[in-house]
Amino acid sequence: MSLSLIAQNIGESATLKLNEIAAALRAKGEPVIHLGGGEPKSKAPMEALTSAAALLSSGEIRYAPADGIPSLKKAIIGYTEKYYGRAAAPENVIASGGAKQAIMVALQAILNPQDEVIFPVPYWVSYPDMVKLVGANPVPVPPADGSFQPKIQDIEKKVTSKTKAVLINSPNNPTGVMYRREFVAEVVDFCERRNLYLIMDDIYHRLLFDGNQPINVCEFAKDKTENSKLVLVNGVSKQYAMTGFRIGWAVGNKTLIKAMSNIQSHQTSGPSVLLQQAAVAALTGDQSSVEALRITLENSRNVMLARLGTLSGAKVTKPDGTFYCFVDFSEYDKDSVKLSRFLLDKVRVVTVPGIEFGLDGYLRLSYCGSIKDITEGVDRIKSALEMK
Ligand SMILES: Cc1ncc(COP(=O)(O)O)c(C=O)c1O
Repeated sequence: MSLSLIAQNIGESATLKLNEIAAALRAKGEPVIHLGGGEPKSKAPMEALTSAAALLSSGEIRYAPADGIPSLKKAIIGYTEKYYGRAAAPENVIASGGAKQAIMVALQAILNPQDEVIFPVPYWVSYPDMVKLVGANPVPVPPADGSFQPKIQDIEKKVTSKTKAVLINSPNNPTGVMYRREFVAEVVDFCERRNLYLIMDDIYHRLLFDGNQPINVCEFAKDKTENSKLVLVNGVSKQYAMTGFRIGWAVGNKTLIKAMSNIQSHQTSGPSVLLQQAAVAALTGDQSSVEALRITLENSRNVMLARLGTLSGAKVTKPDGTFYCFVDFSEYDKDSVKLSRFLLDKVRVVTVPGIEFGLDGYLRLSYCGSIKDITEGVDRIKSALEMK
């Protein structure tokens, strides 16, 4: 069968595949504990549900502007002013099918084949494949000092004449670590000086613990004009527990957003109006569910850390936010795929191999599930590793 070079070069999403494996085992009655997940288990905000239901029952579900309905753009503009202090016009905003599609169309609008995009290791699983989908080259930057805090000097060394963009995500999937303010300031300055796009994937920015406040990347930008190459990406998936609604967005200069909208108009004609309606209600309604989720996750993180403390060979970095913990299990096995498979086979616990995020020897454990899943999951991992 003949397939394109790009198709041959793209793998399946490791995390979505794990969801399938866990679901298939559960369907067979296996007592699977899923510590590989990437979505909160709380319910979507009630306003989001009733708002979408009202539109649904009207029966008038039609095509909408490819870059988002005006009310969603207005809500995103309000969000951008509140969290970034950045004034935006509707032409600076595109609503997409999740933050994933917002990043994807941004890459399609920015990159030519063989161009390069730099991002720190460990990175979100999809970044390398998303860059490859455009025929461009991902340039992951491993941490020279072994920490989860990237250094601007390491990024600087990777820049070539082909570099078009830097892509960062903080607090970070998979580590849960929030990048230092100084680094965020340096990377903004660096990208401005080198005329590079900076894509800030802020999907977890409100899910922070220990009194940490979101870092506003716009605070460090000197260029506040339409020449700015800073692109803000966010969405409702994580903070409002609305992963299945598939609504995310990007805010950037008007020329870029227009190009992204043109691309999206031919790809999907934009996200479903029904789900955009739900996102408007989530963004403009009572925000207490976000804080409730944040508190729940902070507690779950504490439970997971305490439990992991009983594993003498596991090295844990305390997450500042998100719902992930990226644990160094190399003392047990340096091959994360083998170790993850072993834990699934032996004790039916799903974990994500660190190599999917660019670092072998680690496993990503999620604490977005129930406390019982967290405690029992880590206990099962412990018993399996002690038998090893
Ligand atoms: C770092 C990061 N960026 C983007 C996304 C995509 O989010 P969405 O559901 O809005 O497409 C995810 C989802 O796991 C993520 O972890």
